[in-house]
Amino acid sequence: MPLSRFVKKSLCNLSVNARCQTVAIMMKQVTGCHPGGLLLVCLTLAVVFMIGVWQDPATHKLITPSPVSVHPLYPSRVPLLDLPGFTYIINNDVCSADVFIIVIIHTHPANRMERDLMRQHIPEEDLRDLGMRRVFLLARAEWEDQELYHKTSQWSINEENLMHHDIIQGNFKEHYHNLTYKHIMGLQWATHYCPHTKFIIKMDDDIAVDLYQFRDKLRTRFWGRKNLILGLMQIEAKPVRNKASKWYVSEKEYPEKYYAPFMSGWAYAMTMDAASAIVAESIKWPYFWIDDVHVTGTLAEKVGVKREGLNRFYTLHVDHLHCCVELPNNADYFCDFLVGPSEGDPDVLGKVWDHARSCYINPCQRRPPEISVSKTCVRAKLPPLAPLGKGHGEIVKVYGPFL
Ligand SMILES: *[C@@H]1O[C@H](CO)[C@@H](O)[C@H](O)[C@H]1NC(C)=O
Repeated sequence: MPLSRFVKKSLCNLSVNARCQTVAIMMKQVTGCHPGGLLLVCLTLAVVFMIGVWQDPATHKLITPSPVSVHPLYPSRVPLLDLPGFTYIINNDVCSADVFIIVIIHTHPANRMERDLMRQHIPEEDLRDLGMRRVFLLARAEWEDQELYHKTSQWSINEENLMHHDIIQGNFKEHYHNLTYKHIMGLQWATHYCPHTKFIIKMDDDIAVDLYQFRDKLRTRFWGRKNLILGLMQIEAKPVRNKASKWYVSEKEYPEKYYAPFMSGWAYAMTMDAASAIVAESIKWPYFWIDDVHVTGTLAEKVGVKREGLNRFYTLHVDHLHCCVELPNNADYFCDFLVGPSEGDPDVLGKVWDHARSCYINPCQRRPPEISVSKTCVRAKLPPLAPLGKGHGEIVKVYGPFL
């Protein structure tokens, strides 16, 4: 049957029309498109629904509905590296023209507590006042090989999203070998849904990041910059060749002796143009699962994105963070660090964020160098990770919080 007759027939079909109208109204609300556009959308949808009920004359079998979707938040066939059929399970359009920094947070579906902690201590209203928005990046939880995690149902994630509207969830499996998918998904999402934003801040959900000070630093020192990533720069880091390690990387996966200089995934800032370039480049190279190495190292190097270390604003010691909020007169001073690890302790996250927020509400002073946290903090244990010892104390050879 020729297509035109089919379209006519189904356009006369009441139920298709009703659906079409509903969708058309939705589309109008979402896109504000004009009636001519609506007709086109209607026709497209009619075709889509029709294909869904199309019977193959040869086999008399129903052909499976085509997954073609024109919904702006749920488009089908978004390219994401080598993943066939990538789509969002949950998506939100959170950016408007007044957003300058979008914060994207890697989190496991089971980590509801961490997400709520951050929502509670860094309220969304603050972020709005500061021209920022926040979304959490999730994949799909499959529990059979993840006994360590509390089993969170998809239902409860949907509920969580209905409450907060801040979840972006991809349809690939949540797994630490899949974090590069998540990382590129986040950057791609940001370039697509927040195109007017100047910076992306990518962070992990267990890292204490003072977003108030981080934003100030970006505004005062890096605002007009392009093609740039800022963070805890890792230089001359080597792949782990010990097969017993969770982070073992074979010669086949990564033949070079050193990784390209990359930014720790704890927290970094990236300009929007750099994110676009990296996303475009990402489909040209084989998958490599250590996401911060691949995205902020290998791919950034390929497209010539500049990387600058803010290493002196990062601490590797949770005790430094404790000191920030415990040293005498701490309420008068900013913490010396923008970013530090929580080592799985939610209390320290809450305290650091509350302190950061109080310095936002009642501006604090810089700590004078003679009473800097690293000088006066007596809690600090010996570093868990030996610095490179090359005379530049800022540069440390670490990968993430795990090594
Ligand atoms: C990564 O996600 C894909 C798509 O869902 C899945 O097939 C694959 O098994 C996942 N990888 C791991 C290591 O679980």
